[in-house]
Amino acid sequence: MSRILVVGSGQMGSGIAETAARHDFDVWLWDSASEQAKKALGNMRSRLDRQVQKGQIDPATLEQILNKIVIPPSLQSVPSVDLVIEAIVEKEADKVTVFQQLGELFDTATVLASNTSSISISRLGRYVPHPERVIGMHFMNPVPVMRLVEVIAGTLTSHDTVERVLAWAKIMDKTAVTVQDYPGFVSNRILMPMINEAVFVLQEGVADKEAIDTVMKFGMNHPMGPLTLADFIGLDTCLSIMEVLYEGFADSKYRPAPLLRKMVDAGLLGRKSGRGFYDYTT
Ligand SMILES: NC(=O)c1ccc[n+]([C@@H]2O[C@H](COP(=O)([O-])OP(=O)(O)OC[C@H]3O[C@@H](n4cnc5c(N)ncnc54)[C@H](O)[C@@H]3O)[C@@H](O)[C@H]2O)c1
Repeated sequence: MSRILVVGSGQMGSGIAETAARHDFDVWLWDSASEQAKKALGNMRSRLDRQVQKGQIDPATLEQILNKIVIPPSLQSVPSVDLVIEAIVEKEADKVTVFQQLGELFDTATVLASNTSSISISRLGRYVPHPERVIGMHFMNPVPVMRLVEVIAGTLTSHDTVERVLAWAKIMDKTAVTVQDYPGFVSNRILMPMINEAVFVLQEGVADKEAIDTVMKFGMNHPMGPLTLADFIGLDTCLSIMEVLYEGFADSKYRPAPLLRKMVDAGLLGRKSGRGFYDYTT
């Protein structure tokens, strides 16, 4: 079975690791914040425990999944793998540093994928020897539940790399869609301006947060309102994506809502920090 390294064990990295382990990949899960990967594994156990209680999986399967995931003491100690999926914060400079490290550590047989929501795959490829193995593998949140993987081919990504990633996505029971490397790709070029507009509507006092979410839920049949969704994604991630769209297209229609920036500045990041548009502390 294939071997996979996931870099970054936040909400996305831990979900990718769990999904891969469920489908029999051998998984290494690395995070630069030393306690974070262990915490992620603890959260995963609690989630899987709830599934055992509901009779969705048996206790042996739970142990089997968790036993597939190794937390290495360092990035350098990870053995050779078939696929790396980077899922660290949505900051280009940080991702570049990680890709430079990955390019040095893993030979050309290893596919280097980024779970970025918006950053140019072609640009990340510039920092890696043999950029034909660099690709976007954009999972949706929560990864174990959402079926889509957006596969992004950079300018120099090879056909072989795309085919290998499509095959891995299929093993993970995902529906993959291949798109070209433009800012925000397809998913966030459409989704994020809607969320940003909802923040403008709130900022301008057109309606309160509950009203905005209710309009989109019951009026447009969205499973959750845009402000609830923004809290779920993480307001820092939403802001970073809007900045990529704004700079990438040099078009003012993508300017981030000042209220979004103000909330991120204050550390109100949504669910992951306990408070965003809504309060999750109680
Ligand atoms: N949140 C979403 O809904 C969503 C959906 C799809 C894609 N994404 C993308 O996935 C990526 C991760 O998002 P997230 O929501 O999981 O963020 P998060 O803030 O929950 O987790 C990021 C993790 O990366 C770790 N990290 C930071 N720098 C690192 C480094 N240099 N090496 C190793 N680990 C490092 C942090 O310690 C943290 O645990 C981003 O690129 C984001 O755009 C997010």
